[in-house]
Amino acid sequence: MAEINLHGRDFLKLLDFTTEEIEYLLDLAADLKQKKKNGELTEIYKGKNVALIFEKTSTRTRCSFEVAAHDLGMGSTYLNPTDSQIGKKESIADTARVLASMYDGIEYRGFDQEIVETIAKYSKVPVWNGLTNEFHPTQMLADLLTIREHFGHLKGINFVYMGDARYNTGNSLMVACAKMGMNFTACTNKKYYPSQELIDTCQEIAKTTGATLTFTEDVMAATKGADVISTDIWVSMGEPDDVWEERIKDLMPYRVDKKVMDNAGSQAVFMHCLPSFHDLNTGIGKQIKEKYGLNEMEVTDEVFESPASIVFQEAENRMHTIKAVMYATI
Ligand code: CP
Ligand code: NVA
Repeated sequence: MAEINLHGRDFLKLLDFTTEEIEYLLDLAADLKQKKKNGELTEIYKGKNVALIFEKTSTRTRCSFEVAAHDLGMGSTYLNPTDSQIGKKESIADTARVLASMYDGIEYRGFDQEIVETIAKYSKVPVWNGLTNEFHPTQMLADLLTIREHFGHLKGINFVYMGDARYNTGNSLMVACAKMGMNFTACTNKKYYPSQELIDTCQEIAKTTGATLTFTEDVMAATKGADVISTDIWVSMGEPDDVWEERIKDLMPYRVDKKVMDNAGSQAVFMHCLPSFHDLNTGIGKQIKEKYGLNEMEVTDEVFESPASIVFQEAENRMHTIKAVMYATI
């Protein structure tokens, strides 16, 4: 493993890390995953504790941080979206200083990226971004590890993202591909392309890694020969319900269906950070069916349940990669 030391570093967005540092975290995650499968203990942080702040709901990220913390021998405290004083009775800066005096690391999931950056500024212990409106960096490590496990490498992989490419997941995937020398395509209605500022930043990175970035509304041209087809829900946490109608209209042409996967080719896999609206077994799925008559949204159930779908391997890797982040930075 490369001589890289990330102790004391925050993990706020992939833009803050070099290609080599990201590779180091992926190697560490793969090693920790193997150790877990072998039943080997990794309780190197016995006696330490982490605080997990969630201003938005979560299944994977919360469980990954809790299991990973316990596997590393640490205690964890979960602060839910309603019970803490954060932002309501106590400022972010004060909260950060209080928590940093008791804990050895702080995870934050919530709204603006600026909030997690502020926590990091006022905290003397590492701070980890568990999802903001702009970025979802721990998800990226899981996605990269999953792609590497499947294809054996990252460089040169043709990665196509369909749907809302201007929110946390789409933004972060563009950064991840740029950093790792992959070919990123955002295939969506141009209203949903990432911001020009972030595209420019990623184009600069791409020049040094050999990555390419493409933005197109042409589904068949974009997905031909793709190795990975990826998407995310069309309306993210924190967005108002009244955007559903417009989103459905704008993004329906960019749903991942069998035609898209067949066009990509037999090598193609399907990825999704989850949760996903691929059937009617969710409350929101049922409401959308009643209002708009749709049985599935960003991905068809047929693709989600097909052998090409590696979404549950991707979800498992959330835990191993989050463990690597805590292991490396505490
Ligand atoms: N992918 C992801 O972040 O899932 P959760 O919202 O369940 O944490
Ligand atoms: N874009 C989604 C990701 C969920 C993991 C959201 O922010 O709700």
